[in-house]
Amino acid sequence: MIFAIILSLGFFATACSVNKKDDTNTKPKNVTKKGIDYLVLVNKYSQLPDDWEDNVELVTAKDAWGDDIKVEKKAYKKYQELKKALEDEGIIIELDSVYRSVKEQQELWDEWSNDPEKGIDYVRQYVAVPGYSEHHTGLALDIVIKKDGELIYENDDMIAEREIFEKIHEKLADYGFILRYLEGKDDITGYAYEPWHLRYIDDVTIAKEIMNNNLTFEEYLESVKDIKSVPEAAKYQIEKALQKYLKETYEDKITTAKFNVTKIYTTKEEQENEGIKTLNLGKNDVAFSVTYQLQPADDSYIDELTLVDGEYDEELGMIKNISRLGVLKYNSEDDSYSIDNFGTGW
Ligand code: DAL
Ligand code: ZN
Repeated sequence: MIFAIILSLGFFATACSVNKKDDTNTKPKNVTKKGIDYLVLVNKYSQLPDDWEDNVELVTAKDAWGDDIKVEKKAYKKYQELKKALEDEGIIIELDSVYRSVKEQQELWDEWSNDPEKGIDYVRQYVAVPGYSEHHTGLALDIVIKKDGELIYENDDMIAEREIFEKIHEKLADYGFILRYLEGKDDITGYAYEPWHLRYIDDVTIAKEIMNNNLTFEEYLESVKDIKSVPEAAKYQIEKALQKYLKETYEDKITTAKFNVTKIYTTKEEQENEGIKTLNLGKNDVAFSVTYQLQPADDSYIDELTLVDGEYDEELGMIKNISRLGVLKYNSEDDSYSIDNFGTGW
């Protein structure tokens, strides 16, 4: 038996129990590569396109330590030209991390989260949720620099090398690269300043427009097309947390079968107008509904609602800073609700 539940953000909660069939299916793999969109947007709210891996052409290169890494073919060719041009000015750059699979991103997330010197707050500023990293595209290149024969590769050490990185950044657009995570624009990109994270976009004119005007990629894309979208990263984070909760609570007897963001409500009125129950439970006056189906292995029925609490950024049309996730339990005896929180700090 499958149950559908509506998941709601902020103050609000509602439930429905429409039975739907899980229509998740496996797509046949493309045999021929049809090319990639070099202007693809991958950020906290926009996931890697499903067919990306089938179409991207990766080549093998060496990182600064001589290990094999993978890079998108054209991006690598242009990187080599950039490196040469910088060398002529006495600046040595090498590659660190370029292509990362979703699994590798998860490993990085786990490793850094468990590092006592970094921790989860640091990770959220510098590491994308698996599935939402530009590194999955093969077009994002993390560089390191060599100064007086020594590699400088730690984040803080690189941030301190302002003069060298300024000279590097000046040259990026000529080779079709942009700087992705700008200083002071973390409210737009979702990440702290990363002077080392270059992004290949394969268009020198656009790269120059972005770099000369100190724009984030988000700002540029918003100026040329509508990129406001359902908060994919929020969806991913909720799904992960929900699965963890279900695993711990129901010991693998129940899993999520399908997950779908259906609607964003940005005001309490809007949600109430649609007859959705609102509860003063969270701190943010914002909500979105997500339907998902649960697949119990037995015949148990789950009469629960799930809530998350976050902030809605009107300008970007995105949900940010999910701070809490919990299951709302209905008590029929006295017609009341209580919350079983199962996650904070998303
Ligand atoms: N460091 C960037 C944000 C990433 O992990 O994709
Ligand atoms: Zn990076």
